Amino acid sequence: MTIDSKLLVAKDYEAKRHAVNRALSKLFRAKPDELYAPARYLLEGKGKRIRPMLVLYGAESISGSSKNAMPLALAVETLHNFTLIHDDIMDNADLRHGRATVHKKWDVDTAILTGDVMHATAFQLALQTKSKNLQRILELFAQSVIRVCDGQAYDKAFELRKDVSLDDYLMMISYKTGRLISASLELGGLAADATPAQAKLLRQIGELVGRAFQIQDDLLDIMAGEKSGKRLGGDLIEGKKTFLLLKALELTKGKDNTLLKSIIKNKGIDPSQVMEVKAIYERCGVIEETQAVIQRDFEKAKSHALKLPHQRGREQLIAFAELVMHREF
Ligand code: IPE
Ligand code: IPE
Ligand code: MG
Ligand code: MG
Ligand code: MG
Repeated sequence: MTIDSKLLVAKDYEAKRHAVNRALSKLFRAKPDELYAPARYLLEGKGKRIRPMLVLYGAESISGSSKNAMPLALAVETLHNFTLIHDDIMDNADLRHGRATVHKKWDVDTAILTGDVMHATAFQLALQTKSKNLQRILELFAQSVIRVCDGQAYDKAFELRKDVSLDDYLMMISYKTGRLISASLELGGLAADATPAQAKLLRQIGELVGRAFQIQDDLLDIMAGEKSGKRLGGDLIEGKKTFLLLKALELTKGKDNTLLKSIIKNKGIDPSQVMEVKAIYERCGVIEETQAVIQRDFEKAKSHALKLPHQRGREQLIAFAELVMHREF
């Protein structure tokens, strides 16, 4: 892609992001504040809006237009933010995008209920889609939510298990993260009347982007600076079996390997040990291996995306996927 077309894509992304944010800011204005203020608070944060963008690009890569896809873009973003509220309770996370998480700023009861109302609102938004594919769209949407719950259940179960393999991990992330990302692209495609073969391509691209995205998220847990707005090493402290930990166990010997194994044995580490683990990761080459896996997934996604029918739409989609992959927060 030339510099000019990259600039065009960046401009287009900003315009779409702005439109999504404006529409999101109109949601959850009802009373009582005890229920809706936390939803507004989370949506006013620095969310990257990756999933709604993927809905819109999914549509444009098929027909060149995303005019029917906006309700679905808002639906997936609302659904995603519901999962974040409940995820932060489950992960004992105090910070998201540098601000207190909902259950810390309010309390756990409020966070559960606000999550519930966002969940239902997401379906209400999806129902507004004007499409002959509405039934398929809603079926896919519901199926994706179920998969995310499956993935979150595995994620929690794996915290306690000592024998999680890399394959188990890849299955788990394909559910908890991959599924909604992949559905976002496919939903956008369906709103633009994609054929079954085109919908399948979008799904496959989404699975790859979703996997790379979660592996990058695991990488950022230990490598991100201030920008991430999450606690450095939060996954290690909680005893999460991340891609980095599982891969680093294969790459280390002796003392380093013993320390990594102790994370699994003790179901987490003390915050004071996070920098020590980071140093092991840097020494054993797992950072480079992780980046290579992400790059491979991107290349594969790109080769699928080149088969999509609308040229400008697919170029935007590829450029956006690349941006997502190299995210720093
Ligand atoms: C966070 O998703 C949850 C994961 C699946 C890793 P994002 O990193 O897309 O969160 P926001 O939308 O920017 O807040
Ligand atoms: C979250 O995964 C996945 C879902 C919310 C479904 P993480 O727990 O890794 O996400 P972060 O790191 O808290 O954003
Ligand atoms: Mg989690
Ligand atoms: Mg989390
Ligand atoms: Mg994470």
